[in-house]
Amino acid sequence: MVESKEQKKYTIEDLPGVGEATAEKLRENGYDDVMTIAVASPKDLSDVAGIAEGNASKIIAAARKYADVGNFETGEEILERRREVKKLTTGSKNLDNLLGGGFETQSITEFFGEFGSGKTQIMHQAAVNATMPVENGGFDSDVLIIDTENTFRPERIIQMSKFRGLDPDKVLKRIHVARAYNSHHQILLAERASELAKEFPIKLLIVDSLTSHFRSEYMGRGSLAERQQLLNRHMHDLLKFGTIYNAVITVTNQVSARPDVFFGDPTAPIGGNVVGHTATFRIYLRKSKGGKRIARLIDSPYLPEGETVIQISEDGVIDGV
Ligand code: GTP
Ligand code: MG
Repeated sequence: MVESKEQKKYTIEDLPGVGEATAEKLRENGYDDVMTIAVASPKDLSDVAGIAEGNASKIIAAARKYADVGNFETGEEILERRREVKKLTTGSKNLDNLLGGGFETQSITEFFGEFGSGKTQIMHQAAVNATMPVENGGFDSDVLIIDTENTFRPERIIQMSKFRGLDPDKVLKRIHVARAYNSHHQILLAERASELAKEFPIKLLIVDSLTSHFRSEYMGRGSLAERQQLLNRHMHDLLKFGTIYNAVITVTNQVSARPDVFFGDPTAPIGGNVVGHTATFRIYLRKSKGGKRIARLIDSPYLPEGETVIQISEDGVIDGV
């Protein structure tokens, strides 16, 4: 479930102002999770961590935000929300099956893979599909794309729309694209997504790419903690949007040769645990022969791991044969 995942992923290092040394002191004194810090007094925290009381107050304020103190829902409300979960077709039956029926609302689905593996193509296809009628696997909805790499191509939308028998002009009118110029801009656009959702029925929010700005702006180990904290916040803004508007969230992510969290794994996705814990579905894409792509589902809460073959063609994303 989304909720239990959400509870799990915050660690005390995610709190602004808590570095390695402070985290160690806090842990030694029993402040080992965000909730314990959220309910601590500034004086106590300042004493055990050897930090100024003002800083302790700031840490506590952040922890209170992260721990969602005071946000209660009944089991009935949660069940009710889960009942509203809908599936959006990916364009490929193979991929739909791998995902248990398609992209799920109230969740984040992440595609990661090397350049040219088809992530952006899959995002374009998802955008087209969301505008399709419900009986064809669509949402009859509008789409918001946060484009960080300037790779949105209306021409591709037109090709894909024609193949699905859709009016390309109508499809293009329903796709709202926002260029994000840096990671802060990207975060802001996600925060403001709800403003657009009040005006248009947005049931799909795409971030392509989730990590590219973060990766280039926060180089080196020294800035890793800050990057992870910002990414964490961003992911949770996205998840919140998906929950409130019962929308599908899809994001793309590249793989890093540089060992960061998954030390030594040459195919590690960027963003490590933060992205991994918040994305409900993670799909690893690999290039294969003749425009084929192998999609592998990893680390899903309730679906079996597995892989399938899709094809990226002129017409868009279809089953691989
Ligand atoms: P990065 O963003 O660079 O990490 O890559 P990506 O994973 O987003 O790759 P993208 O989705 O841009 O895939 C590009 C690939 O899709 C191309 O190399 C082609 O193989 C394929 N492709 C894109 N457009 C077309 C098309 O019109 N026809 C066909 N047959 N293939 C296409
Ligand atoms: Mg791309």
